Amino acid sequence: MSLESTKNLIESKPKGFFKGIIPVDFAGLPVNLEEFRNLADEHDLWIIEDAAHAPGGYFIDSKGNKQKCGNGNFADIAVFSFHPVKHIACGEGGMVTTNSEKLYNQLTLLRTHGITKENMQEDHGGWYYEMQELGFNYRLTDIQSALGITQLAKNDAGVIRRNEIANAYKKSFAGTIKFQNLPIGTYNAHHLFIVEVQDRKGLYDFLRTNNIFAQIHYIPVHTLPYYKQIGYESVDLSNSEHYYSKCISLPMYPSLTDKEQEFVIDKVLTFINA
Ligand SMILES: Cc1ncc(COP(=O)(O)O)c(C=O)c1O
Repeated sequence: MSLESTKNLIESKPKGFFKGIIPVDFAGLPVNLEEFRNLADEHDLWIIEDAAHAPGGYFIDSKGNKQKCGNGNFADIAVFSFHPVKHIACGEGGMVTTNSEKLYNQLTLLRTHGITKENMQEDHGGWYYEMQELGFNYRLTDIQSALGITQLAKNDAGVIRRNEIANAYKKSFAGTIKFQNLPIGTYNAHHLFIVEVQDRKGLYDFLRTNNIFAQIHYIPVHTLPYYKQIGYESVDLSNSEHYYSKCISLPMYPSLTDKEQEFVIDKVLTFINA
């Protein structure tokens, strides 16, 4: 996410037009949230960090400190996903982190139908509770949570392996194929390894015929039927569209073996150099 274009966009509208910023640590690459916090403070905006791709990633702040994704030092709230393809997979569900006690209390209330025994207006006895807000059931099951705790313990090792895989791709593709740039001091959690190529569909199909299941992340949402219908069809998001026309995600998961990765690299280079 570009700080400069976010700033330009905010400043192109009257004060109060925007309420907040939702930076995404895309593919695992941490956004420098210190810079975004300064921008948000100037314009009185909140920040929700989408750290779904980035547990274990970090950037170095202006004082030289390591700032891990989702640590709550700059964003008001960070969100993570525990979907099966993510670093911490526990079936489904996710996690919200915050350093704000107020937001924490609000989130715990909403998580469970807005029901609480805190700050009650009445008290009829030990059994009594109140529904103070319209919440929902956002709870993870205990079984999922137990799985999540063991997955969390393995995350650091998984991110190290993901970086080894990323480095091997980069070494093989340097100067030939475009991949995500890594700012100095930033540690990418590498949920994905994305390259950009001219003939994306050609490469996708070629890899499939070789039993390599590459993926495309993501189709720009404003081009999907729902968003078109609600008025986003004509928005100018040409950077997203340009990126989408070229992007392809190569296999990236800790159990990918060196031999399997060599096979992938060989096929990608065979296609590119053909
Ligand atoms: C960047 C990002 N944010 C949010 C989500 C949503 O996560 P969930 O489906 O667990 O709500 C995803 C899911 O793939 C994602 O990739």
